[in-house]
Parts: sequence; C-alpha cells; structure tokens
Amino acid sequence: MPPPPNDPSKPSEAEGVPNLTETYLPSQDAPPPSFPSSPSKSLSLPPELLTLTQYEILKELGAGGMGLVYLAKDIPLNRNVVIKVIKTAAMVERNGADYGRYLCSVFRDDPEFCAAVDGWAAEEEQHGLALGRWAELADPSFSLDRSFGQFLAMYKIPVDATESIRGSLGAELCARCVVETGTSSFYSAIRDAVDEPVLKQICKNIAADEFRHYRLFYGHMQRYFSGSLRERWQRLMVAVTRFRETSDDEIASAYHAGNALSGPYDRVFSTNEYGARSFGFYQERHVRRAGHMFAQAAGFSPDGWVARLLTLALWFVIRRRGEKYRAVLAAA
Ligand SMILES: [Fe+2]
Ligand SMILES: [Fe+2]
Repeated sequence: MPPPPNDPSKPSEAEGVPNLTETYLPSQDAPPPSFPSSPSKSLSLPPELLTLTQYEILKELGAGGMGLVYLAKDIPLNRNVVIKVIKTAAMVERNGADYGRYLCSVFRDDPEFCAAVDGWAAEEEQHGLALGRWAELADPSFSLDRSFGQFLAMYKIPVDATESIRGSLGAELCARCVVETGTSSFYSAIRDAVDEPVLKQICKNIAADEFRHYRLFYGHMQRYFSGSLRERWQRLMVAVTRFRETSDDEIASAYHAGNALSGPYDRVFSTNEYGARSFGFYQERHVRRAGHMFAQAAGFSPDGWVARLLTLALWFVIRRRGEKYRAVLAAA
C-alpha cells in the first residue's frame, strides 16, 4: 500500500540526515562476501524445465506428492551478475550531489524544497558509497573512485540549468517520484533475490530510504498541481516518459564505467548488458508495488484501475525487456 503523502509544511524526514555509513557498511575487518559456487551444466531435464529462464537446475532432489523436486539456482544470484549490477548502481547513486545542484538551481525560488534536497542528495551519495564499498570488497580490482571519475567524464547532469528539462516544476517532481519508485523497487528486488547477508542488508536499508524519498518528492509535488483530470494525464505522460529513459545514457555509461568495459562506449551494448542482468531480479510483487506508486505519482488512486493497468503494463515490459536483453546477450 503506497504511503500517504508528506505534509510539506512539516520538516521532511530527509532533512535530518543520519550518519548512515556505519549502518550501511561492513567493518574494514569484515570478511569479503561469499557467493554460491558455479552450478553444474550437465543435467538431463524434462523439456518444460528448459523453458524456465530465471533458474538453472542443479540436480534432482527426489520425487513425492508435489512431483519431482529439483535444486535450482537463481541465475541472477550469480556472482558476476550481482556485482556488475551493483557497480552500475553505485555510479548513479554516487552522483547524487550533482542531481541536488540541478534541482536546487531549478527550484531556486523554493527554499523549503532546496533544504530538503540537500538532505536527499547526501543520502543518495551515501547509497553510492555503501554499494561501492561492498563492490570493492567483493571485487578487489574495483575502485569506486576510479570508476566514478570515468563515469563523470562520460555523463554530465546540467547542474546550472535554470529551467526544468521536464517543462515545469510539477513535472520535475513527478519525474523524481518515478525515479524513487524505480529505485525502491530495484533495491527491494535485489534484497529479496540475494543470499549474501551484507548486500541484503544494504539493499534493505536503501530500499527504505528510496521509499522515503518518494514520499518527500510526492509531498512537495502536491504544491505544484491543481489535481484536474487533464493535469493528471499530463503527469502520467511525464511518468511514462521518465520510465522509458531507463535505457538512456545514464545507466549505460554507469555500466560501462563501473565495469571498466574495454573499447569505446556503446550505449546499446551497455544497455543490453545491464538489462540482461538486472531485469531478472524482479518478482511480480515488486512490480505491483511500483505500479501503485507510479499511479499515485501521476495523480490516480494507488488502488484503482489505472494502478492495476499500470502494474500489468510494467510487468509485461519488464519481462519482455529481460527476455530481449538476455537473448541479445546470449547471441553475442
Ligand atoms: Fe538512492
Ligand atoms: Fe532516492
């Protein structure tokens, strides 16, 4: 159930930013994360199991009232899949300060919002530091600072913009709600998919932050909209447009820099690589929650037919994109 909006007249929860580093990060003395060993590939399986794309069957455990029981390995749990996705997320999150500067430049006449944005940007940066530190422990060849420097050279946010690239301040806040919906769902999906306890805890904490960020932007957005039906459809268009931007240069260049890909930057290649790895994390319940938040951000009831339709559409798109990206990757 999506949350009630924040009351913008009250201090936002993000304004009192706690020192999250100790909460989020394992100590320097903590052992590196461990992962399941590589699965066997030499198994004879019934044809119907071969159609399952998310799981790799390790062995037959036995037979009983529920039919044959197999030990399956969730492919997204593969060590390299998780690490590559987390490195990408660390790049984007670490860039929170620049997003904060962009927002405060665009909302320069709204000091209340700018004060909240400062706290929000600090939390986003901490997300990037926590994820990056985890990736450094999991892969000692990875350096957050080095990769982030490469990412900044590739992707720039218009920090001095005086007008929102979304066309209006309300639309800008609607787009931010969509981003926070996406990140909340993303970290919830990873939290539920991985067994490694440190990453699981980091993702659990970050998912809670992202949900709170959604409430922050949603609360401020109410001051910029009248709530008319025409306006709600305009918000829906903004939300859909922002969702479609998940295949733009930000994620792709973060994947390229975060994973130190050789050769020139190729947006399509990096998008396929990232999508093939990240879309498999999602389960239907994560998408359902995102659909409700998405509808609410557009001004519709989180429990109404628009929300249900959006959930179906999101689930369809996520599964189709995952299949498409995995097929491209397998054929490469
Ligand atoms: Fe974040
Ligand atoms: Fe966030």
